[in-house]
Amino acid sequence: MTLPTAVSLREVGPRDGLQNEDPVPTDAKVALINGLSRTGVSRIEAVSFVHPRAIPQMADADEAWARVERNPAVTYSALVPNSRGASRAIDAGFTDIEVVVSASDTHNRRNVNRSTDDSLADVAEIIKQVHDAGGNLEVIVSTAWGCPYEGEVPVSRVVDVARRAVDAGADALTYGDTTGMATPTRVIDLVTRTRETMRDVPLALHFHNTRGMGLANVVAGLQAGVVRFEGCLGGLGGCPFAPGATGNVCTEDVVHMLESMGCDTGVDLDRLLAASRRLREIVGHEMPGQVVKAGKSSDVHPVPSKV
Ligand code: COA
Ligand code: ZN
Repeated sequence: MTLPTAVSLREVGPRDGLQNEDPVPTDAKVALINGLSRTGVSRIEAVSFVHPRAIPQMADADEAWARVERNPAVTYSALVPNSRGASRAIDAGFTDIEVVVSASDTHNRRNVNRSTDDSLADVAEIIKQVHDAGGNLEVIVSTAWGCPYEGEVPVSRVVDVARRAVDAGADALTYGDTTGMATPTRVIDLVTRTRETMRDVPLALHFHNTRGMGLANVVAGLQAGVVRFEGCLGGLGGCPFAPGATGNVCTEDVVHMLESMGCDTGVDLDRLLAASRRLREIVGHEMPGQVVKAGKSSDVHPVPSKV
């Protein structure tokens, strides 16, 4: 099997991971982002600028971001749900901004209180805002393989939402599998259909491991030629507006798999595992990630002495 030899990863733990936990102190959030900044990961989704009533975990986004020690080698981004969020992100100094739009209308209404069409109309305004400020705007199309309220979302619908975002001037796309409904064949299908009309736009994949298919879906994405993926430290994460949502594909498990397959992630796995152990202390419970518990497959154990 010929696969890409290098990928770019975005760590979403400070946002997707922590939005699904009891709120943690700002100090811990800043320490998490600073620790991740030293692992070699090239992109970090640092915060979201959403309504504090909707996601109280992000109420301290401005303060946390102001206190982060920025590593110039890392691209930090912020997620926003609307143009008000984009203004806040720009005012905070972000130049890489993501806006989330669900392919399914029902999830979009639950998540951001408007229809997908209304969000797409807002996207055109947000693109202008972000470009005028000299930044880049990425559109995250969530529920790209299925919606907890509507079931499977047709590929044609997802591609149409992506197409409208790109036509409006989006600089990049991410497909989000909000509740882990993707399968490897459906990943290849959606990527292939997207590339038929949107050949050059940077495309990333964001999987949740809700049904244990996360790593398989990453490999399927690689097979389809995708080189941008997202993961969450420890395998935390989930959308509070999607019943049954659970964690993202675990970044350290993704890095372990890819590096074992000869695919360069740029990440120092030992440092990432150390960051994962610190995150476990911050959230105070077991996390789904497996390599941090099992050790790397290259670790060898001493042979027990006979009794
Ligand atoms: N940040 C902070 N405040 C915001 C905001 C934002 N991004 N967007 C709107 N507001 C404020 C408005 O200024 C307004 O304030 P006011 O009452 O003092 O005038 C109030 O919220 C209502 O504005 P409205 O546009 O009607 O928002 P809404 O009540 O329809 O809520 C969202 C829409 C998008 C703000 C809210 O649903 C949200 O924050 N969702 C977050 C979803 C999320 O993060 N999901 C997980 C990640 S995908
Ligand atoms: Zn997610």
